[in-house]
Amino acid sequence: MAGTSLIILAAGLGSRMNSDLPKVLHPLGGAPLLHHAMQAGRMLDPVRTIIVTGHGADQVEKAARTFDPEVETVLQEEQLGTGHAVRQAAPLLQGQKGDAVVLYGDTPFIRHETLEAMQAARSRHAVVVLGFEHAGAGRYGRLVTQGETLERIVEYKDASEAERAITLCNSGVICAEASVLLDLVAAIGNENASGEFYLTDVVEIARQRGLSAGVVTCDEAETLGINTRAELAAAEAAFQTRARAEAMENGVTLTAPETVFFALDTVVGRDALIGPNVVFGPGVTIESGAEIRAFTHLEGCHISRGATVGPFARLRPGAELAEDVHVGNFVEIKNSVLDEGVKVGHLTYLGDAHVGEKTNIGAGTITCNYDGVNKHRTEIGPRSFIGSNTMLVAPVTVGRDAMTGSGSVITEDVPAEALAIGRARQVTKPGMAVRLMDLFLSKKKEA
Ligand code: UD1
Ligand code: CA
Repeated sequence: MAGTSLIILAAGLGSRMNSDLPKVLHPLGGAPLLHHAMQAGRMLDPVRTIIVTGHGADQVEKAARTFDPEVETVLQEEQLGTGHAVRQAAPLLQGQKGDAVVLYGDTPFIRHETLEAMQAARSRHAVVVLGFEHAGAGRYGRLVTQGETLERIVEYKDASEAERAITLCNSGVICAEASVLLDLVAAIGNENASGEFYLTDVVEIARQRGLSAGVVTCDEAETLGINTRAELAAAEAAFQTRARAEAMENGVTLTAPETVFFALDTVVGRDALIGPNVVFGPGVTIESGAEIRAFTHLEGCHISRGATVGPFARLRPGAELAEDVHVGNFVEIKNSVLDEGVKVGHLTYLGDAHVGEKTNIGAGTITCNYDGVNKHRTEIGPRSFIGSNTMLVAPVTVGRDAMTGSGSVITEDVPAEALAIGRARQVTKPGMAVRLMDLFLSKKKEA
């Protein structure tokens, strides 16, 4: 099928991270760096995505597949340079019609609008390179242009003083017809200061063959690559700034934006309200008009319109809240579905449970879902009332319109409309409190 192919380079060790984890798997916005590049590329609706792996190839491949099960990977056994890396994709791209775009697993901020501008520029040039203006002394490749034409790219190490003075720098992102790119990378040599096969050499080779090359520019912030933990932390701050601004542009109210932390895949609907100090882990969707109150931690959950969550709530993977559910303070919910209008106000753990509509869960309720080996389910019917401090020892079912007495340990199913009480009966001894106190006091005097 004709269409855009993505080649994402992710073979490097990233030695400056000082880590056992491959660099592209370090997390940014709750997702591996690699996913950010894949996300930017995905907006081009690619017909195929090829990841060039090397260091930690198995781990990198696995992470890539969680983002896109269709992804293809190719191993670059030795990292002999960016041109050599692209060459590894050649067997997979043989006969592929359409353009190829080269992206980098450690460069998470490229905007899809920028990639679209590069695609548009392909109508004018056989090879399009993404550049940026950089006034500092960065060791980037320099773009040597003549008018609208990009003549060649010279790596910093190989550049003359005059070339180093050029402020138009190479981001590394490049776009050309797949077959053309393959022809060009096949011709790259390694006679340079690093002894590497530079992808950047394709520009000069293209020019020698009479093909035109051009530059599209973007903001330097987009081309930010991550090489150290400090750069990763700075990138996290940049990611969060961008995510907060986007959320507000999309009509989400953030009471204290600088205290809210988003993930790459967070989705929040219009007119949702997010209080201070809310943290989004991966996999959260929030519908319009929901309210998340202060100090709430969310991960892998769905919150429907009209629901309120927090303050101080924790929703873990598989928590699904229907419309108008209320989850209050110090409540933890995991792998549980709460139907419309359910209330879980305080101090509760619900795990592996289903709660029917309009049921009220009293303070201190716990689903005892784990026996030390297996997890078991709790089923609670609609319009029920679970008394405060009920222990629901799973597997167990409470029927519709049923009740449990406070402090009950429920080990047997409760039928619909029944009241179940599972606790010791109260014993009351008249005058006993005073007699006991007297006894304690006299013992203390003797001692
Ligand atoms: C590259 C560009 C440079 C540009 C800079 C922008 C070349 C020759 N130079 O330099 O012009 O200004 O990026 O940041 O392309 N990789 C592989 N296999 C390899 C080598 C690299 O997968 O054999 C991957 C790395 O993991 C990394 C990326 O390609 O993600 C860039 O490689 P790197 O060695 O960092 O290139 P730079 O020297 O930064
Ligand atoms: Ca680099």
